[in-house]
Amino acid sequence: RKRVVVLISGGGSNMLALADACAADDFPAEIVGVISDRKDAGGLAKAEARGIPTFAFERKDFGSKAEHEGAVLEALATLKPDLICLAGYMRLLSSDFIRPYEGRILNIHPSLLPLFPGLHTHQRAIEAGMKVAGCTVHIVTEGMDEGPIIAQAAVPILHDDTAQSLADRVLIVEHKTYRLALQKIALSKGQPREPAFGPDQYIISI
Ligand code: GAR
Repeated sequence: RKRVVVLISGGGSNMLALADACAADDFPAEIVGVISDRKDAGGLAKAEARGIPTFAFERKDFGSKAEHEGAVLEALATLKPDLICLAGYMRLLSSDFIRPYEGRILNIHPSLLPLFPGLHTHQRAIEAGMKVAGCTVHIVTEGMDEGPIIAQAAVPILHDDTAQSLADRVLIVEHKTYRLALQKIALSKGQPREPAFGPDQYIISI
């Protein structure tokens, strides 16, 4: 089973979806730690309740981005992950952070990338008149919400959607998409950046 560390900043529902998947004996990954950049992240208590070791490093407790990332990297070194899953981790990782784990860091973003990277994705999708939204799991590279796409799922945008109602609908498919993507990556024999996906496996929900 692949060792996975999940990085969070908030409620951690994607982290929990992955933890629930990993609880099955036949799932090819296990969560060995959860790291947050916020001590008050709701996901920390949820991880602890499942017996997962947690760590929190507030950015303001460190003098620089490099020192903050250094603390996270130290924690990672003790956890020895095969894969790192960003799950609502609201920080851009530097190339120094990514390098030792290159091709082994996944992120989930609540849009159909490359559309609407960054913040306020749902509001922007609605304002653009999109009829379809969704989520993307991708390999993390230096650019924000860039990197090779592993899996995507689509959901409709309804005429009376608000950013919140759309976010709620997308979040449900995020959980399913992240589980599937982690399973595929954990099972892939070669480089994680080159998973064998069939064309039917990119869209998992419409
Ligand atoms: C999720 O919608 C995730 O896709 C998004 O934050 C939310 C975290 O929810 N991530 C980003 O916007 C990253 N660019 P969660 O804490 O309940 O998993």
